[in-house]
Amino acid sequence: MGKITKAQLKMHEQAENLIHGGDKKLTREQVEFCLEHWDPRASSGKHVAKNQAYFTPMTLACDACMYVGGDGRRVVDIAAGIGRLSYAVLCANYWNPKEVKVTAVELNPEYVQIGRRLLPEVDWVQSDLYDLSLWQSLPRFDEAVSNPPFGKVLTDYDTSWIGYKGPAGLTVAAISLKVTRLGPTMVLPQTQTPYKYSGMVRGGDAYAPTRMKYLEKFSKQRPELEWDHRSLDTEEKAYKSGWRGAAPVVEVIGLYDRDAELVELLSASAEKPSVPRPVFQLAIGGV
Ligand SMILES: C[S@@+](CC[C@H](N)C(=O)[O-])C[C@H]1O[C@@H](n2cnc3c(N)ncnc32)[C@H](O)[C@@H]1O
Repeated sequence: MGKITKAQLKMHEQAENLIHGGDKKLTREQVEFCLEHWDPRASSGKHVAKNQAYFTPMTLACDACMYVGGDGRRVVDIAAGIGRLSYAVLCANYWNPKEVKVTAVELNPEYVQIGRRLLPEVDWVQSDLYDLSLWQSLPRFDEAVSNPPFGKVLTDYDTSWIGYKGPAGLTVAAISLKVTRLGPTMVLPQTQTPYKYSGMVRGGDAYAPTRMKYLEKFSKQRPELEWDHRSLDTEEKAYKSGWRGAAPVVEVIGLYDRDAELVELLSASAEKPSVPRPVFQLAIGGV
């Protein structure tokens, strides 16, 4: 993993001063500065690698979450880091902030503490995403956003409730389908999707010629699963240059499975439906 540079460290320290230098509410500009420049490599290099804490470039986060929320939807940011995707969802709903309610789930207590300081309007939950009782205790969500860990699943919790064993990215995808009505928007490594869109030469084939076994298994278990590519070429410089320490080839995708079995919630009121979603509504007049 790439080391933090002197210039990056200086910016990180400025972000630290803003975050820990008092209780005064931060301005929008200050929040954006911290989201962009607070760098997990500064304090806990090894920990970052272990939990695969590579934060989504803000440019990519904002474009990926452009259509998330609205209609009073509850959105959960799974493995939220310090909240880059959560912030992107809030931005997408900037003109109507009451029409979205964002919850962020993150394991690392330091990230959660920073997230609370930067985005107090988000409900922060410090927890392991592989814990079934976490999801049972939360409300039913409409949508998820996630740039999860990609590699190995690292947890002491029993993961059999998820019904899928494979790399962490697809495992989080499986969880998202079980805890949301409308499925997730996710940043996944290219090999954990059926696409080869990002970095494709013009006119090339956007679908991967061969699929990894773990992906075949994931799709086979979900015959009604719909993949939806968000048409972002994440290899474009504006996105690619924003990764810190690692620059994986990723795709931004949406998933929907009308047959997904949702986890049972502990409280019936947590099931209260928000406004159902007309996915696309064309206003076509008569001739
Ligand atoms: C690739 S980073 C992405 C962070 C954030 N979503 C973003 O896009 O900036 C993955 C995040 O997952 C968190 N994480 C790893 N294992 C987790 C677990 N078991 N439960 C919850 N969060 C976890 C890490 O601490 C890290 O913040």
